[in-house]
Parts: sequence; structure tokens; C-alpha cells
Amino acid sequence: MNFSGCGCLLFLPTKVAVSTSILSNSKRWEFLWMWLPKLEYDHSMDERKSLSRFINLNMPLHRAPVIESLRLNFSHGYTGSVTPEDVRQWVALAVTRFLRELSLDLTSEDNPTKLPSSLYTCKSLVILELKGSNLVDVHRTSCLPSLKTLLLQGVLYADQKSLHKLLSSCPVLEDLFVEQYGCESEHFLEAVSVIVPSLQRLTLKLCRGYFFHRLVINTPSLKYFKIEDYTYEHTNGIDDDDYSFYSDDMPKLEEMEVHSTYLDIQNFALYREGIVLSQLRRLKLCSCTINWSKLLVRLLKDSPNLQELEIHLDGDHTNICEDPPVCWENELACVPDCLLSSLQTFKWTRIYGSPKEVDLVKYVLRNARCLKTATILFRSISYSALEEDELEMVIQDLSLSSRGSKDAKLVFV
Ligand SMILES: *[C@@H]1O[C@H](CO)[C@@H](O)[C@H](O)[C@H]1NC(C)=O
Ligand SMILES: *[C@@H]1O[C@H](CO)[C@@H](O)[C@H](O)[C@H]1NC(C)=O
Repeated sequence: MNFSGCGCLLFLPTKVAVSTSILSNSKRWEFLWMWLPKLEYDHSMDERKSLSRFINLNMPLHRAPVIESLRLNFSHGYTGSVTPEDVRQWVALAVTRFLRELSLDLTSEDNPTKLPSSLYTCKSLVILELKGSNLVDVHRTSCLPSLKTLLLQGVLYADQKSLHKLLSSCPVLEDLFVEQYGCESEHFLEAVSVIVPSLQRLTLKLCRGYFFHRLVINTPSLKYFKIEDYTYEHTNGIDDDDYSFYSDDMPKLEEMEVHSTYLDIQNFALYREGIVLSQLRRLKLCSCTINWSKLLVRLLKDSPNLQELEIHLDGDHTNICEDPPVCWENELACVPDCLLSSLQTFKWTRIYGSPKEVDLVKYVLRNARCLKTATILFRSISYSALEEDELEMVIQDLSLSSRGSKDAKLVFV
């Protein structure tokens, strides 16, 4: 059989191919669809209520020896004719065709979609993305020997061990993204343990509510780590003693982003006291973190090769914290190595404008010997510590303040 005839279709969205197949009676289109290695469907294709019939009739006849990817998006709910059982069957079928990538974005008002157990032993799967009401239900014998990328966004877990079992079945996993939507549901995890020796990138977005209370990270190969850890209510309704966060050494860490409304840096172990983050090049810290400036001081001291530092405020955190920063001259009496030898870019966006914050900017400008650019964005006046005329003066003051690097450019945006 000659495959070249459908080469031009490989990059044609399946959507177009399928609609054409459904809408026209052309046997030729239907024939070509049979060979598409990438299958993608969403609710917009179901207007004529014929999608599930079409797929159900044709998928078993689908002839591409390998289904590269199957992407289903019913994030607006199962409208029309598609049911969770259909999705289950299509996934089961795709798994038998050396599936490499599966992406499911589902919403269902009723029960979450339970995926076929064969998915969790799929040897060929490299990328798995599950969004919305997928039920992650992993059995003991699961094994995903090729899985490198795993995204679990707002999914539900059959039991408290499901995530752990899933991660334990991925020996070569490199990139993991886990987000829990909301804080309270029987399907949410009370504790998250990420113990994955091969992991290089980790993004966690977790809501610390009445359920979730423990996070353990053991990822010695990690290069990129982003954590968003926010409380359900921005009140003190949660017993802090009930929450623990422990992470082991990450000697290869190059980039870190911390957006958290709660990091008790006394008890908190983003990393242990005494550890040097020698590979850390880029750091981004949300200034809504409680005691964020203490965390910053510690990170500056412990990251001798830091090149890029960004302090910013997440858009949806504005009303939470006006946590006054520490007094820099005391905390950083001894200038951290990264300022003396590596920091090139400093960015602070949506700065509140309090005198201590302005002091920090001056401190960096004065001490950073290799600084190339400092970029400052003040918050809009209504959310700022400064009046319009004060702002002008602060800008003037900063522009004239002394610089440790004669090449440093100061930019106000
Ligand atoms: C699914 O479709 C919605 C809107 O139609 C879109 O916002 C969402 O990003 C899509 N999901 C994926 C995984 O592409
Ligand atoms: C913030 O710092 C203050 C002063 O060191 C300390 O008393 C307080 O417990 C800290 N809060 C958190 C949540 O770490």
C-alpha cells in the first residue's frame, strides 16, 4: 500500500477531514480518513449528532498502523451523541494501535469518565494529558514504560493512592503538571507525594484547603520547579500546623517559580537549610507569599549563580498581601555572591511602592556588579502605596541612585 497519497492529509486537522467525511458521501474522503495517524475531535463537530456514529462505525476500521495521537475535547460537556462510554471505547481502541499521545479534555455534570484500565499499561504512550472530569483509577500492575509527559488538570482520583500509583508506574517520566481545582471533594487528594527520580520539570498548582495537607517532593533530577500553593479562603480558617511540605535536594535545579500565599519559611522545607542551589539561574517569586522577602533573602544567599530574578504579583493575589518586606541592610549586610558575580536581569512587576521595597530596588542597583537591566513596573495608583506626585519622585530618586554596574539600564514600564 502506498502511503504517500495521503501525505498532505497528515497535517490537515482531523476536524476538517472528519467533517468532510461526514458531510460528503465521498468514498475517497472516507478512505483517506482511515489512514490519518492523528485524530482530533471536539464538540463543534457534533452538531449533526453524527460524530459518535461516524467514529463508532469507522474507528474499528481505522487502518493507520500507528495512531500517533488521539485528542478529544468535550470540555463543554457531552453534547449531542457522544457519551462517556464512547470515549472509553475509543481510548481502548487507540491503545491497541501503539498510541503515543492521548489528550482528553472532558466535562461531565454526572459521573467522571472512567478510562479503560488498558490505558495504564500502554507501552507506547509518551504523552498523556487529562483535563476535567476524568477519573484516574490506577491498578497495581499498571506500567507506562515510555511515558515522558503527564498532565493532570482538575481530574478526579478514584482513591488517595491513585496519583502515587500512577507516578510509580512511570519510570522515565520527565515532565509532570498536576493541578487540583478547588479544595473540597471526596475525589481530591489529601496529600501529594511526587517521588520520581527521572523528573526534570514539575508544576504543581494545589489548593491547601481542609482536605489537602501534605506535600512531599523527592525529585533529584529536577531542573524546573513551579509551585502555586494557595489557600481556599484568604482567611485564617486553616490550621497551619496541619500542613507540611517537604522536599529533598534538587541539585540540578535551574529555574524556580514560587507563587504561594503560604510558605512558612521557618518550618517550610522548599529546600533544607544549608543547601546551595548552585545551578539555579532563574528565580521568579510572587510577592504575595507570606514573608516573601525572607524567602527571597534566603534564596539570594543560597543561589550563587543566579542570573535572572523576577519579583511579581499574581493578578488574582492583589487583595491578599501588603506584607512589608524585611530590612535589606540588616538581612543582607553581607552582599550575596549572585549580586557580586552573576545577576544580570532584575525585574519587579506590580511593585506596591513602600519605602522598604524601594530600598530593595536601590540595594540591588547598588550591589549588582553584572547587572544589565532592571525593569520596574509600579502598580496602578489606586492599588499603590504612592500618590501620583510621590511616584514621580520615587522614579526620579531611583534613576539617580548609585549603580554597581555602569552598564545597568533601569527601565520603568
Ligand atoms: C478544549 O476546547 C476549549 C474551548 O473550546 C479550549 O478552551 C480548551 O483549551 C481545549 N482543550 C484542550 C486540551 O485543547
Ligand atoms: C513571618 O515572619 C514573622 C517574623 O519573623 C514570624 O513571626 C511569622 O511566624 C512568619 N509567618 C510565617 C507564616 O512564616
